[in-house]
This record gives sequence, structure tokens and C-alpha cells, in this order.
Amino acid sequence: MSFDPGSALQHRKRRHIDVCLTEAVDYQTVTTGFERYRLPYNALTQTDLRRIDLSTEFLGSTLRAPVLIGAMTGGAQLSGIINRNLAAAAQQLGLGMMLGSQRVMIDDDAAAASFAVREIAPDVLVIGNIGLAQVSPAIVPGLATALGRVGADAVAVHTNPLQEAMQHRGDTDFSGSLHRLSELVDALGYPVMLKEVGHGIGAVAAAELVGCPVAAVDVAGAGGTSWARIEQFVRYGEVRHPALAEWGIPTAQALTEVRAILPDMPLVASGGIRTGMDAAKALAMGAQVVAIARPLLAPAIESVAAVVDWLEVFLEELVICLHGCGAQDLDALRAGGVVATT
Ligand SMILES: Cc1cc2nc3c(=O)[nH]c(=O)nc-3n(C[C@H](O)[C@H](O)[C@H](O)COP(=O)(O)O)c2cc1C
Repeated sequence: MSFDPGSALQHRKRRHIDVCLTEAVDYQTVTTGFERYRLPYNALTQTDLRRIDLSTEFLGSTLRAPVLIGAMTGGAQLSGIINRNLAAAAQQLGLGMMLGSQRVMIDDDAAAASFAVREIAPDVLVIGNIGLAQVSPAIVPGLATALGRVGADAVAVHTNPLQEAMQHRGDTDFSGSLHRLSELVDALGYPVMLKEVGHGIGAVAAAELVGCPVAAVDVAGAGGTSWARIEQFVRYGEVRHPALAEWGIPTAQALTEVRAILPDMPLVASGGIRTGMDAAKALAMGAQVVAIARPLLAPAIESVAAVVDWLEVFLEELVICLHGCGAQDLDALRAGGVVATT
């Protein structure tokens, strides 16, 4: 029997979804760290709750609220349903959306249909996706075609050395990847955002990025979904290396570290963002927007309405946070900062 890398990749994507839906895939001991901060509550707020303005700019688009639907999936048939439901919700709420890795689309033309969201989401900031381990000069034309086909506004490159190391037949050669990232930025003609997948971009990686012309960084820190955990469930049916599954830079720490080293870089806070309060703290600590991935997976399999419901609860809490801080808009929220409690 011949080995078909395209279908093997689609099978793995499907296993990721199944494991995310059935196993405990969150960090078991590591938290995001946002619980160590408090928003400065203002009992004499002068804001009107109904007039709070959440709008923001990100990668050249105006969002109605500072929220991106996190990169999740594409390729398998179920992925098409997930992507379309997420896209329709993003359009309804005026949010941005990241697609899952488009590698499968470059390898197998038939997979493209599962990424087709532009008709459903004509006004949405759509961010394509590729793995840093797959980035090379040879991939540039195929990637540009894939981005053009989905009508992407930008691309996220995910760097995931720990995830790949846990994966059966993972791409484990990251040598020269920083140079290849810079080459991609120069050659592609799309804004490039660098992201992790939940183990965090922190001070050391941020220092490597000084001078690299990426358009944004998504810190994708620890405290939410652990991909080193998921890959162990996929590979062994159990977690054999619990210490590796718990390894990462907590999201609040990652955000603080990257902000200090790259003060002008637009930052996404993600990894364990679960509530409007988490988002408000991340924004007050300097994130331009937040992103949410796994909590939206089950709603996205269900319906557009289920995704919208989940996000509306989240956004309602975020609005109340601004109101309680006396912040009319996100600039005012950021100006107020956060209070460290430990
Ligand atoms: C089912 C699923 C598939 C994912 N696939 C991708 C992917 O293809 N590319 C990527 O950059 N990140 C991918 N991620 C990682 C997320 O974008 C995110 O960085 C990570 O899950 C941490 O965020 P969370 O705690 O909100 O889930 C995936 C996440 C989930 C849950």
C-alpha cells in the first residue's frame, strides 16, 4: 500500500478534533497567570454601559470587538462545516478569523473547499495559516496561491517545535527557520504574523525577532490547550510525558515579556483566553486583540448560532469589564492597566 501524505495529514487533523472533543487536553497544572492580576475597578465610573466602544484596528482591518477566532482546522470534511460556522459567526459579530494550517490545501487541491469562507464572510479579517517547519522558498508560490484562493488578508505562521517533537513523523528540523521566516516576509506580499500553538512566545523568542519584519505576534501561551498533550493522546492513547505536556510560558507572562522587548509590535494574546475578564486583562496589559480557539470547536460543529451564543456571553463580560473600569473604549482600558495581586 502506498503512503499518501495528503490523506495521512487529513486523518491526523481529524484525530486532533476527536481528541480535543473527548480528552482532557488543557494544561493540568499551569495556568495563564491572568488570575494574578486585577482590573482597577472604579466605583465612580462615568461610562454608559450601552455606549462602550470595543472597536479596534488590527492588520489593516477594523474589528467591532478585539477578538479573533483562533486558528483551528481545515482539510477534513468536518473542517469545512467548522470553518463555515466560525466564519458566519465572525461576520455576524464583526470579529476576525484565523484559518487552520493550509498545508493540506497546498498538498491536495481537493482540500481547498473546507477553507472556502470568503463568500460567507465577505467583510471579515481572514488570516491564513502555515507551519514554520514547512516554510521554505519553494513553498512561497503555493502558499500565495492558497492565500489568494481563500481571500486571506494576512497569514499566520505557527512555530511549534514542542508539538512537532511529540508528533509521530513530526517536522523536527527547525534549523534556519528564523532566516526562512524573514525570507517569507520579504517574498510573500501578505502581512505575516508569527504565532505559537499554546506553549508560548516569550522573551528569548522575542529577542530573536528584533529586526524581523513580521506584522504581528500572537504569543499563544500556556494555560489553555496543550498541544504537547494532544499529540501524546494521538500518538500513544495516553500522556507518557506529563512534564512535556505541562511545558510552556503562561500567557500573561508571555505577553509581558514580548511587550517589553517589542514595544511597538501589535500583539495577540491567546492560549487559555476563556472569559471576557481574561480578555480585558490581556488588553489592559497591551494586547491589541485576543484569540480563542478550542472553546469554539464544539459550538462550531453544532451551528452558527451556538458559536454566536458563546461569543456573545464573552463579549458581554468584556463590555462590563470596561464599564467597571470607567473605560469608554480600549484606549482608556489600556491607559488604566492592571494591578498585580501577588
Ligand atoms: C482543533 C484545533 C486545531 C488547531 N489547528 C491549528 C492550526 O492548524 N494552526 C495553528 O496555528 N494553530 C492551530 N491550533 C492552535 C490554536 O490556534 C491555539 O493557538 C491553541 O489551541 C491555544 O489556544 P486555546 O487555549 O484558546 O485553545 C489548533 C487548535 C485546535 C483546538
